[in-house]
Amino acid sequence: MTDSERHLLAGVMGWPVMHSRSPLMHNYWIGEHELAGSYVLLPIEPEALAAALRALQPLGFAGCNLTIPHKQEAMAIVDEVDEVARIIGAISCVVVRPDGSLFGTNNDWRGFIGNLKQDQPSWRADAGPLTVIGAGGGSRAVCYGLLQEGATEIRLVNRTYARAEAIAAEFGGPITPLPWEERHDALDGVAMAVNATSQGMVGEAALDIRLDRLPDTALAADIIYVPLETPFLAAARERGNRTINGVGMLLHQGRPAWKLWFDLEPVVTPELRERMERSIAG
Ligand SMILES: NC(=O)c1ccc[n+]([C@@H]2O[C@H](COP(=O)([O-])OP(=O)(O)OC[C@H]3O[C@@H](n4cnc5c(N)ncnc54)[C@H](OP(=O)(O)O)[C@@H]3O)[C@@H](O)[C@H]2O)c1
Repeated sequence: MTDSERHLLAGVMGWPVMHSRSPLMHNYWIGEHELAGSYVLLPIEPEALAAALRALQPLGFAGCNLTIPHKQEAMAIVDEVDEVARIIGAISCVVVRPDGSLFGTNNDWRGFIGNLKQDQPSWRADAGPLTVIGAGGGSRAVCYGLLQEGATEIRLVNRTYARAEAIAAEFGGPITPLPWEERHDALDGVAMAVNATSQGMVGEAALDIRLDRLPDTALAADIIYVPLETPFLAAARERGNRTINGVGMLLHQGRPAWKLWFDLEPVVTPELRERMERSIAG
C-alpha cells in the first residue's frame, strides 16, 4: 500500500447505518478527483464504538463520520475535541492525526451555512429575525452557525422549553427561547424559518405549525432530507415562499471533512445534488 492510498480511506460509523447516503457523496468526490480510495459504511454497535474508533489508525483510515447513535458517546473516546464540538455537544467527524491520536469536531453547522450560501447567494444572517423550531442536536448546529454568521435575533421555539432555554444560556448571543404555544406567532416578520425538529421526517407526523404569519419574502428551511420535501416545506412553497431542504446541509458538511482528512476541497455540484436527491427519492 502506498502512502497516498493509505490516506484515502474513510467511512461512516453508525448503528444502523446501511441506509446512509454518505458513501454516494464521498465516492462521487473520490471519482471526481480521480483518486484511489474508498468511503465505506461501518456498521458499529454502541458497545464496539471505542474499539472501532481505535482501529481506524491501524486500518489506514484518514478518519470517519459519525451518525446516530454515536455522535455524543464518541466525545469521551477521542483524544481531543474542539470548541465547536463541545458547544454543539456532539462530534460528526473524527480525524486520525499523524501521531495516531483521534481528533473530533462537528461540521453540521458548516453544512447548514454552506448550503444556504450556495443555494441563496444573497442570504444574510442579519437580514432580519430568524426562527428556529427544535432544540435537539440539529438545532444546536443550526443555531451555532447562525450566530457565527452574525444573526441579530434568533427566536428558538421547542416543545420542551427547557432545552431551548439551555441553548440560549450556553450559546449566549441574541437567542430568545420561546414556549411551544408561541410557535405560530414566532414567524411574524422573520427573514427565515427553520424546521430543526424531527417532525415531518418519514414515519413522523408533520410539524404542527400555521404559516399565516410567515412573510412572503421569508425563506423556509428544513434540515430533514427524507422526504426531500417535508409537509412544512410543501406548505411554505404552496403559499409562495422560497424553500430549501436538508440535502444540501448533508452535502456541505462533507466538504470540511475532506479538508481535514485529505487536504482537498471538493465541490457540491448540481450533478452530485441531483444524484443524492434521486437516491433519496428512491
Ligand atoms: N441535513 C442534515 O445534515 C441533518 C443533520 C442533523 C439532523 N438532521 C435531521 O434533523 C432531524 C432532527 O435531528 P436531531 O438530531 O436534532 O434530533 P433530536 O436531537 O432527537 O431532536 C429532535 C427535536 O425534535 C423535537 N420533536 C420530536 N418530536 C416532536 C413532536 N412530536 N412535536 C414537536 N417537536 C418534536 C424535539 O423536541 P423535544 O426537545 O421537546 O423532544 C427536538 O427539538 C432528523 O430528521 C435528522 O435526520 C439532518
